[in-house]
Amino acid sequence: MKNHPATKLFDVPHPHTFLVIVLGLVLSTAVCSAADKKIVVGFSQIGAESGWRTANTDSIKSEAAKRGIDLKFADAQQKQENQIKALRSFIAQEVDVIAFSPVVETGWEPVLKEVKKAGIPVILTDRAVDVSDKSLFVTFIGSDFVEEGRRAANWLAKATGGKAVIAELVGTPGSAPAIDRKKGFEEVLAKNPGMKIVKSQSGDFTRAKGKEVMESFLKSPDAKQITALFAHNDDMALGAIQAMEEAGVQPGKDILIVSIDGVRGAFEAMAAGKLNCTVECNPLIGPQLFDAAEAVLAKKALPKRTAVQEGVYEQSQAAAELPNRKY
Ligand code: AHR
Repeated sequence: MKNHPATKLFDVPHPHTFLVIVLGLVLSTAVCSAADKKIVVGFSQIGAESGWRTANTDSIKSEAAKRGIDLKFADAQQKQENQIKALRSFIAQEVDVIAFSPVVETGWEPVLKEVKKAGIPVILTDRAVDVSDKSLFVTFIGSDFVEEGRRAANWLAKATGGKAVIAELVGTPGSAPAIDRKKGFEEVLAKNPGMKIVKSQSGDFTRAKGKEVMESFLKSPDAKQITALFAHNDDMALGAIQAMEEAGVQPGKDILIVSIDGVRGAFEAMAAGKLNCTVECNPLIGPQLFDAAEAVLAKKALPKRTAVQEGVYEQSQAAAELPNRKY
């Protein structure tokens, strides 16, 4: 039917023009929604075992919020099985990137293969995994734990002139920091025959367990010979300080203490003369994690490993450094 000139409101476009308009609309909607789409990152955290871990969680959560990233955060309560479950649930939720800090080093290959099959890139933070297929993760952002162990031992060697009878509070068994810090520490001891470890037990990186294990060290018949304590983290050292005080031993004087992390509590203990040295392990890696997540989604190449810059602090620096501590 033809339009009558008097009643015609607009020209009916050619069918091809219609097609072009519709396609244009569909495309622009798709482009807009792709640009607006939030990046979804699934993060499996170890737990809340230490002040360090709390600072690490805060850094990750606050950076995700700052960048408008949709963060699916799961707390594994220090259990590998919970982390494996979390990784599987991130696959089911089809997140864009999976990141995690593995509680222990081994046992990850099967679940990481599932993640790879789902086509989701993996970023490791803080702790590494022991896998033969390195393509199972894109990059690892974390500290050099072996070097931290060396730094602790070097400080002790200098402070004691190479003579020390050492008690050691080890971190979580099978975890990268416990394995590597011990390795680095013992590497330096091998060059200092006057320094030996006489007691060594896990305090699981917690203050309560550090206290409990130190109490048992101090009750042993040969407790009097201990001249130094090496704690794999500050929280265990802080627990041990309490145990020493309750047993009438002066922490930082009767027994020299070196630990790792650099948390505020350690600086306060140093300022009070109860802790002698803390080797820094920086937990504020949220910005680096999301830089890496954004880069991997933009198909940019990433280094397999990114180290974190860290220092060593002793009592004389504690008061001046305290106001600068961010965790
Ligand atoms: O993996 C880092 C270690 O884990 C920190 O030294 C410790 O405090 C934490 O629990």
